[in-house]
Amino acid sequence: MKAVKRPYEVRQVLVCANVRDPGAGKPSCGGNGAQAMVDELKKTLKARGLKGRVIATKAGCMDICPDQGCIVAFNPGGEFFHVDTTPEGTAEVLARLTEGV
Ligand code: FES
Repeated sequence: MKAVKRPYEVRQVLVCANVRDPGAGKPSCGGNGAQAMVDELKKTLKARGLKGRVIATKAGCMDICPDQGCIVAFNPGGEFFHVDTTPEGTAEVLARLTEGV
């Protein structure tokens, strides 16, 4: 394994959009509307000309699995947050992700 570096700093949010079958006995972020958040973040970042420098990435389960909303992780930093998958929650993620950019 070899570490790689980008020529510029990148900010990223990983959004869990894992989907489980309804009978799985455990909730999933994808079942709570996380894919719509990923789509909206990507669309907004592109519209703002930030694509490539600020990235929203669909991710798999982070083993927190809330009953509502979804789990996101910000990089650099690796902090995890539980957010609502509402337009307001998406706006919160976007604000943190693009703060100072
Ligand atoms: S399904 Fe999202 S953290 Fe597990």
